[in-house]
Amino acid sequence: MLTPRFVSFSFFILFSGVTGFAQQHTPYNYTIQKEITCSKGAVASAHPLASKAGVDILKKGGNAVDAAIATQLALAVVYPGAGNIGGGGFLIAHLKNGRNIALDYREKAPKAASRDMYLDSAGNPNLDKSQYGHLAAGVPGTVAGLFASMPYAKLPFADLVAPAIELAEKGFVITKSQAASFNSAKTDFLKYNTGSPAFVKDSPWKEGDTLFQKDLANTLKRIRDLGQKGFYEGETARLIVEEMKRSNGIISLEDLKEYRAVERKVIDFDYKGYRIITMPLPSSGGIILEQMMKMIEKRNIGAMKFQSPASVQLITEIERRAYADRANFLGDPDFVKVPVKTMVSEVYLRERMHDFVPGKAGSSDSTKAGLIDESKETTHLSVTDSEGNAVSVTTTLNGGYGSKTVVSGAGFLLNNEMDDFSVKPGVPNMYGAVGNEKNAIAPGKRMLSSMTPTIVLKNNAPYLVVGTPGGTTIPTSVFQTLVNVLEFNMSPSDAVNKPKFHHQWLPDQVYLEKGFSETTKNALIKMGYKVTEIPQIGRVELIRIGLKPSKKMEKIFSAVADHRGDDAAEGY
Ligand code: DON
Repeated sequence: MLTPRFVSFSFFILFSGVTGFAQQHTPYNYTIQKEITCSKGAVASAHPLASKAGVDILKKGGNAVDAAIATQLALAVVYPGAGNIGGGGFLIAHLKNGRNIALDYREKAPKAASRDMYLDSAGNPNLDKSQYGHLAAGVPGTVAGLFASMPYAKLPFADLVAPAIELAEKGFVITKSQAASFNSAKTDFLKYNTGSPAFVKDSPWKEGDTLFQKDLANTLKRIRDLGQKGFYEGETARLIVEEMKRSNGIISLEDLKEYRAVERKVIDFDYKGYRIITMPLPSSGGIILEQMMKMIEKRNIGAMKFQSPASVQLITEIERRAYADRANFLGDPDFVKVPVKTMVSEVYLRERMHDFVPGKAGSSDSTKAGLIDESKETTHLSVTDSEGNAVSVTTTLNGGYGSKTVVSGAGFLLNNEMDDFSVKPGVPNMYGAVGNEKNAIAPGKRMLSSMTPTIVLKNNAPYLVVGTPGGTTIPTSVFQTLVNVLEFNMSPSDAVNKPKFHHQWLPDQVYLEKGFSETTKNALIKMGYKVTEIPQIGRVELIRIGLKPSKKMEKIFSAVADHRGDDAAEGY
C-alpha cells in the first residue's frame, strides 16, 4: 500500500480576503504530494494546484471528464511552459458505459503553410523559424478539444474554468523550478515578443514570487462567456491575428474559425488478457506502442530481471524497429495513406524481429523500416472517478513555452508545433526525429505526434491510466511503464520513478537516464551499443485502479506523480 509522501514546499500566506479556489487551497501556500491512495477519485498532473482544481471538481459532483477539463485549464495558468490554450493535445477516455473515446485536438498547419516554408533558396532548413516565434505556430486546438470533451462532462463549463480564471487573476506563488525556468527563458521571451509577457520581470524570479496573468484571465472569461467562439472568433481571434502580423506569422481569422477537434477511433489491442486503449494517428504513439507491446509479448521478458542487460537489449532493439517505422510510414491519415494494419500485424512484427541477436548490438544502418507494399514541452494528466470513468490527456506547446511568443493582450503562449512536421526529408526535428513526405507540411495538415495517452483495461474496467511528456521518448516511457507493471510486477511508484532508457532508430544511440545501472551500461557497451547519459526521460502520471476485497468491491486508486518535476497527485 502506498503511503503519501510529501515534498516540503510551502510559502507564507501573502494575501488575504480571497475567495473560491484560493479560499480552499491557498495558492500562496501549498505542498507537493507525490503519491496518494484513495477511493473516490484521483488526479495526477504536472502541478499541485492543477491537480487540486481537478479533485475539487470531482468533489463538486463532476466526473473524470469534468476534472480533466478543469485540470487542463488550470495547467494553462499555473504551468505555462506546457499547459496551454495556445497548443493542442489528445484525450483518451474510458466511460462508465464501456465506451472508449479518442479526441484529436492536434494543431494544424495554417492555410498559407507550404511544404518548403522553412527552407532557404538553396534548400537548407532554417530550424530557427520552425522552432521559434510566430511562424513556428500551428493553429491551436486545445480550446476546441475542451469543448469537444463537454458532451461527456456533467457540470457547466463556467464551473470548470472558474479555478483557472481565479488563479490567473488573483495569482499564485511559483515553485523553485518554475522560477529557474522563467529566468532561463527570459532572453527568448524578450527576443520573440514585442509586448511584455507576464513571465518577464526586471529582477530574477525566485521561489515564492506571485505570478499574475490578467490578460489570460480575460481570455478565459471570453471563453467562459462565448464558448469555443470566445477563442476562435471575435476579440481573441483578432488578437492572435494581430500578433501574427507583428512578425511574419501566417495564422488567419479563417484558419481559426475553421479549426475543429476530431473524434477518432481508438487503438484497442489485447496484451495477455489486458486491453490497451491508446491514441491513433496523427499520433505515432499508439501505433508504435502497439508494435512494441506485440514484439515483446511472446518473449517472456518478465523472466529477465528489470534493467538486466538482456531485458534492456531486447527493449532497445524493439524500440529501434518501431521508431524506424515511425520515421518512414507515419503522417496525418487525412492526407497520406498509412499501412497501419500491416504495421501491427503478427506476421509483419515477427519478420521485423527476425534479425534480433541476443547479446549483440543491432545497427540502424542495416535495420531500416519494414517492407510494406502499398497501393520539449508537453504535459500529461491522468484522472479517475468513482463512477468508473477514466481519462488520460496529453497536451503540448511542443518546446518549453512553445514558440516563446505570447499573444499580446490575450496573455497565452503560442505553440511551436510546426517543427513536428518533417521540414525536409531526413532533417531531424528538435527531438532528433526524422521523417519523409508522409509528414511533409501541407495546408490544413496535422503534424505527426508522439503523444501517447493510454488506458489499460482489466476485465473491461480501467486498471491503469498513464501518459507522459518527453517528445520522441513518450512512447518509450509509456511502453516501459507498462512493462514495469505488467511484466516486472512493480509498484506504481517504482514503475514511474525507476530510471528509463531510450532508442529511437536515429541517431543510433541508447540514451540512459541518470541513475541507470552501471553494470548494465557496461554490458551494453560490450555488446556494441553507443550509450549516452541524459538527465531525464519522461514525467509519467500513473493511476492504478485496484478493488478492495470487500463486499461492495470498492475501488482503490493509487495515483503517482513523477518525482522528476513539480508533478503532484491528489485525490480523496
Ligand atoms: O507531439 C509531440 O510529439 C511533441 N510536440 C511533444 C513534445 C513534448 O513532449 C515535449 N516535452 N517534454
